Amino acid sequence: MSTLGTEKILSVHHWNDSLFSFRTTRDPGLRFINGQFVMIGLEVNGRPLTRAYSIASANHEEHLEFFSIKVPDGPLTSRLQHLQPGDPIIVSRKPTGTLVLHDLKPGKRLFLFATGTGLAPFMSLIHDPEVYEKFEKIVLIHGVRWTNELAYHDYITQDLAEHEYFGDLAREQLVYYPTVTRESFRNEGRLTDLIESGKLFADIGQEPLDPATDRAMICGSPAMLADTAAMLDAKGFKVGHHHTGVLGDYVIERAFVEK
Ligand code: A2P
Repeated sequence: MSTLGTEKILSVHHWNDSLFSFRTTRDPGLRFINGQFVMIGLEVNGRPLTRAYSIASANHEEHLEFFSIKVPDGPLTSRLQHLQPGDPIIVSRKPTGTLVLHDLKPGKRLFLFATGTGLAPFMSLIHDPEVYEKFEKIVLIHGVRWTNELAYHDYITQDLAEHEYFGDLAREQLVYYPTVTRESFRNEGRLTDLIESGKLFADIGQEPLDPATDRAMICGSPAMLADTAAMLDAKGFKVGHHHTGVLGDYVIERAFVEK
């Protein structure tokens, strides 16, 4: 059996000129762990052109959701951005990835550090009941350059709190902290700076990071991953190693973007 299947576009949402998300049908046989990614793509000149995309929907949902940038001359995203409901899309049958709950040691608080489209796997995880069972608080930080890049902001601040199943959990346990670096906003600055200065913790009324109680997942650009991981390492956090099965205080994955 080929590892590539074909699904159909259900809906497309354009957040701004450079970001969009879309929903597809889901093969009922496709199993994945919240936080994982899958290869998706289109047939171009008779051949599949695929890229890794984190699944932004949760594994208990009937559809799949993906969150993407639009690169005008990107081989795949220049085409993906024109998708319409009913169009076919290739989705691989082999989800994988490191941003999974079971690679983390138990803890009290879970920090989800995202920049840009690195938010996608965390949109899946904040719809995972296990996240709310295993952690007392979930702190989701999303850093972007411009306010109009804060995709899902209104969903997280308004709709999620009203969600039939996750509403109560999110209101009690989820702290969402969007931050913008290149124009004025209620929270400003890089997440690494906000952590080092302590401003993040003052703003959300939480204690600073502590490897004894805190766990983290990081998803962003290579530079953001390197800086955030170095900061956690300096505070005594240990990275989890999927291949060795050693549980960690944090796990990391590159946001799949420049396509
Ligand atoms: P900045 O505007 O200061 O570069 P990008 O689109 O380049 O991936 O950036 C998304 C967000 O991540 C921006 O707010 C950007 O801030 C921030 N960022 C970029 N590099 C880092 C880094 N090394 N550590 C933390 N945040 C970063």
